[in-house]
Amino acid sequence: MELNKKEIELVKILHNNNGKFISGENISDTLGVSRTAVWKYIKNLRKKGYIIESVPRRGYHLVEVPDKITVTEVLAGLKTNLIGKEVRVFSSIDSTNNKARELAKGGASGGTIVIAEEQTGGKGRLGRKWYSPPYTGLWFSVIVRPHLPSNRAPFLTIITSLVVKKAINKLGIEVLIKWPNDILIRGKKVCGILSEIMATPDVINTAIIGIGINVNQDSFPSKIPLATSLKQVCGHNVNRIELLQDILMEFENYYNRLKDGCYRDLVTEWKNSMDILGKEVDIVAGNEIISGKVVSISRRGELVLIDPDGNKHLFWAGDVTL
Ligand code: BTN
Repeated sequence: MELNKKEIELVKILHNNNGKFISGENISDTLGVSRTAVWKYIKNLRKKGYIIESVPRRGYHLVEVPDKITVTEVLAGLKTNLIGKEVRVFSSIDSTNNKARELAKGGASGGTIVIAEEQTGGKGRLGRKWYSPPYTGLWFSVIVRPHLPSNRAPFLTIITSLVVKKAINKLGIEVLIKWPNDILIRGKKVCGILSEIMATPDVINTAIIGIGINVNQDSFPSKIPLATSLKQVCGHNVNRIELLQDILMEFENYYNRLKDGCYRDLVTEWKNSMDILGKEVDIVAGNEIISGKVVSISRRGELVLIDPDGNKHLFWAGDVTL
């Protein structure tokens, strides 16, 4: 759904008016077009799914925007300095992480967001696929250029899981973070995070942080029985654009804390958002399965496990079974 330049300007005017009426005259002055042209743009926007009320002598006001992700809607009301500086929206691509990587290699600046309405080759962790049907979820990647020490890499997913948790909590839904970075609701996965890092042994130059959130799916294929959507949990559609904006604003906040070196606070918050401490678990890391008790999360964000022989193991990543 493409909007032309004047339609984009008109949508911005309606958004900036915060749901109040604005007169046709006022709009025509601001856009520098005739009242008839304003009416034509309003009609076009309605055809594209915008609900705009018009009342004689009062003018127009924006009631509802279409449930389609567009750059105009993502940027309307997005109060960030870095994250979302550039927004790219695709109707269907293989993977937003792949596209973000390509853009990053081509010089895209830190803070660029790549969003797709559908992914045909959505990537999960450990080479898995990520189910990404059209118009129901949030499938997006954030490009950052953090210049953090390489051993701080886990913090990128730590902050991302905290950000998503916080944004979902704002909808009145409780979630748990499953180490290292799955977001679960009542044992089912609602969000997955896939970070891809471009680093030297010392420094993380660029990271692509891919976030997949199941938002408005009514059901899932039987091969992924342990998935859930926000809609399935709360019983109604969730506004994907508002959720995305909340995540981007919160991401900026947590990213700034990370850049300021607030590692200790971030790990503490992350620890408190999981229920893995003290549990007996099996961890698959590479070709190994290690069983033991989770005794702590280290200051660097590693999971600390003691096996039955009393040996200590540290993990940055892996697959955990409780
Ligand atoms: C996982 O839990 O296995 C991670 C899933 C990550 C999925 C997201 S969707 C947006 C971004 N693009 C991808 O191809 N993957 C991530």
